[in-house]
Amino acid sequence: MNLVMIGTGYVGLTTGVGFASLGVAVACVDVDEAKIARLDRGEVPFFEPGLGEAMKSAQESGNILFTTDLKNVIGGADVVAIAVGTPPKITGEADLTALFAVADQVGAYLDHEAVIVVKSTVPVGTNRRVLERVRVAMTNAGQGELTSLIRVVSVPEFLREGTALQDFLHPDRVVIGADDEVASRIVDRLHEGIVAPRVCTTIESAEMIKYAANAFLATKISFINEIANLAERVGADVRDVAHGIGLDKRIGKHFLQAGIGYGGSCFPKDVSALEQISGANGYTFKLLSAVIEVNNRQRERFFKKIIQELGSLKGRRIAVWGLAFKDQTDDIRESAGIDIAQRLHASGADLAVYDPQAMDNARRVLSDHVEFAPTAIDAASGADALVVLTQWPEFREVSFQTLREAMVDPWIFDGRNCLADLDLAKYGFKYQGVGLGKYEC
Ligand code: UGA
Repeated sequence: MNLVMIGTGYVGLTTGVGFASLGVAVACVDVDEAKIARLDRGEVPFFEPGLGEAMKSAQESGNILFTTDLKNVIGGADVVAIAVGTPPKITGEADLTALFAVADQVGAYLDHEAVIVVKSTVPVGTNRRVLERVRVAMTNAGQGELTSLIRVVSVPEFLREGTALQDFLHPDRVVIGADDEVASRIVDRLHEGIVAPRVCTTIESAEMIKYAANAFLATKISFINEIANLAERVGADVRDVAHGIGLDKRIGKHFLQAGIGYGGSCFPKDVSALEQISGANGYTFKLLSAVIEVNNRQRERFFKKIIQELGSLKGRRIAVWGLAFKDQTDDIRESAGIDIAQRLHASGADLAVYDPQAMDNARRVLSDHVEFAPTAIDAASGADALVVLTQWPEFREVSFQTLREAMVDPWIFDGRNCLADLDLAKYGFKYQGVGLGKYEC
């Protein structure tokens, strides 16, 4: 099969490389010439474990190519997949400008039967609008008689940054939202190397599944964060509560880690978009506004906890470990860690930060007055407190004796509870996590 993949962000590049590694002939297209040139040289433009190696072997086997020239590669395509960004507008609504521009272009160049797969996360009804735009563009280009041979299929993506390729190759399910069987059979064939249940639905249901999945996971996180806050009042430990409820198969153990809340390019955007979609359809989705509010409050609460313990931060040296929105990525979009680091800095703290992967991205958004330390221990050197904001496994591996000796005051505030099970008191640390027993806030 021949696949043209438009958009080389996390979803587009991982999907392109994933299909190429399964033997599909893939042409990855992007308007960004510099990015395509890097990809062509075998460089992945972001940190994603395993993706570089898989891309290299797909390039060596000749299954993947990178180009800015859509017109040149679309001719042989059985499937044209679109994975361009749908960033939030100020209203929370998804911005579909890039998606529609691509649809117009695809229509202008298509001159044969093809299936258009939309991987971008889009509001319900958008896939049909994409089909309409492609057909209009085809008609304008003199291919009007072929428009009935063009089908649009919604195939939402569920991969996570940090485990993107594994998630692509071993998904829990493949959702195929199509109008007719021919289209869903072609998409099923495209996925033939992937062993997972197929969920064949209407286009609208597939579009909704994506938002519902992300909104539900975000709800789980806000729920456990509420439990954590209550746990501090009643003297319970949220980790035990999460374990105790998570073993119930109806609840499930995943996404029950309390902390400073969710971030990233997906949950905040998709929960807001679903809330906006609800409103636009005359429905008040009450739960979603609470999920968003709880998530925002979680950062605020953690920040206040630091102030409560340390008092004024003016001139105090604070070390920050972790800036990425989660571990195994260099992505800082909507990162709770970046937000808290900015609050600490704005409160007059003298900040030294360290993240294993996200330093370059963080430099673009944090003040020039923030010190970017080469190692975790360097960041903590001379610090009055250490604030942990991303759950990188390497933070558990440092020598806590060395850390204690490097710091002036022994305070650790852990926004991810990732050091909570270590015996830090042994080294003389004072430790605060989230929801780990009685705390008056
Ligand atoms: C998320 C979904 O998990 C994917 O299924 C989906 O495909 C993707 O969005 C998307 O829509 O493209 P991702 O944003 O990469 O993936 O990251 P997650 O692993 O879901 O984490 C999101 C945030 O929630 C992170 O800030 C993480 O630290 C936080 N989180 C996660 C918690 O605070 N607690 C948890 O128990 C789990």
